[in-house]
Amino acid sequence: MTRPFQILVLSDLHYAGPEERRRVGHEGRAIANPLLRSIARAYRHWIWLRDPFAHNYLLEQVLLQEKDPDLVVANGDFSCDTAFVGHSDEASFQSAVECLARLRAVYGERFRAIYGDHELGKASLFGGKGGLRRVSWDRCVHELGMPPFWHQRIGHYHCIGVVSSLVALPVYRLETLVSERASWELLREEHMEQIREAFETTQSGERILLFCHDPTALPFLLELPEVVAKLSQIERTVVGHLHSPSLLRLSRRLAGLPRINFLGHSVRRMSTALGRAGVWEHFKILLCPSLAGIELFKDGGYWWLTLDLTGKVEVVCHFQPLQWK
Ligand SMILES: [Fe+2]
Repeated sequence: MTRPFQILVLSDLHYAGPEERRRVGHEGRAIANPLLRSIARAYRHWIWLRDPFAHNYLLEQVLLQEKDPDLVVANGDFSCDTAFVGHSDEASFQSAVECLARLRAVYGERFRAIYGDHELGKASLFGGKGGLRRVSWDRCVHELGMPPFWHQRIGHYHCIGVVSSLVALPVYRLETLVSERASWELLREEHMEQIREAFETTQSGERILLFCHDPTALPFLLELPEVVAKLSQIERTVVGHLHSPSLLRLSRRLAGLPRINFLGHSVRRMSTALGRAGVWEHFKILLCPSLAGIELFKDGGYWWLTLDLTGKVEVVCHFQPLQWK
C-alpha cells in the first residue's frame, strides 16, 4: 500500500525584516486625509492587525514543529510590503530574503513559493500609494528564485501554482505604471499559455490541486476553455489573501456586489473581485489564512493536505491553528 503524501500549506506569512520593522506607522503616512487616517488606524487596531511586525515568531513555531512534510507550499505574501511596491523596495526585499531563507533552510528542495499580490506591489488600502512594479517581478524571478509558474505531478495529482496578480491583471492594470503596462500584458499572455498547457496535459481520471493566492483571479481562469474542460477534476483550489475565514464568509455574502469606481483603486479592485465571487465555488476553494489571522479573531494557522497518490480517495484537509503569544 502506498504511503499517503503530505503537503504542508502556509499562506500570507508577512514576515517583517529589520528594515520594515523600523517603518512603524507606514500606512498612516500614506494617507493625506486626517479623517480617513483615523478610520484606517481604528480598523487596523481593532479588526485587522494592530502590530503587523510582531508575528515573525509564528513562522518559527511552524518550522520547529513541522519538520517532516513531503512538500511545503507557501501561498504568497512573504513580506509586509510597507512601501506598497513589492520587492522593488529594498526593505520588503530583505524581509522576503529572510523569510524564504528560513523556509528553505528547513525544507530545502521540498519547498515551493507561490506569488502573492504583495510580492509585486499593490496600492495601499486607504492612501492609494504604490502598485505593481516590473522590478519587483524581476527580483522575484532572478534574485529570490521564485519560478512564476509551477506544475508538478504527484501520483494521480497535478499540482499547479499560478501568479494571481498576472491572471487578474485586468483588475490590477490601473495599479501598473503606464510605461510598464505592455510588458505586464506580455507576461500575462505567456502565463495564461502555461496554464492552458498544464490543464490540457491532465488526463481524465487525474486530479488537480490548484494554488492561487488571490481568488480575484479565479473568474479569469474560467475564460480559458482548457480550464473549463477540466473544472470537475479540480479537487481543491488553495487560496490565501483573505487572512481569515471570517473574511471569506463575508465575501460570499457580498458576492454579486456592483463595481464601485469612485472611492479609489483599492475599493474598485475589491468590489470587482466581490462582484464575481459567485464563481469561486466552482473551484472548491480552501482558504489558507495568514499565520496570524486577524486581530479580532486571532484565527491564523496552516493546513495539512493528505493525498492518496492512487487518486482513489479525496484529499484530506486538516487545519492546524496557531496560538498568539
Ligand atoms: Fe496577505
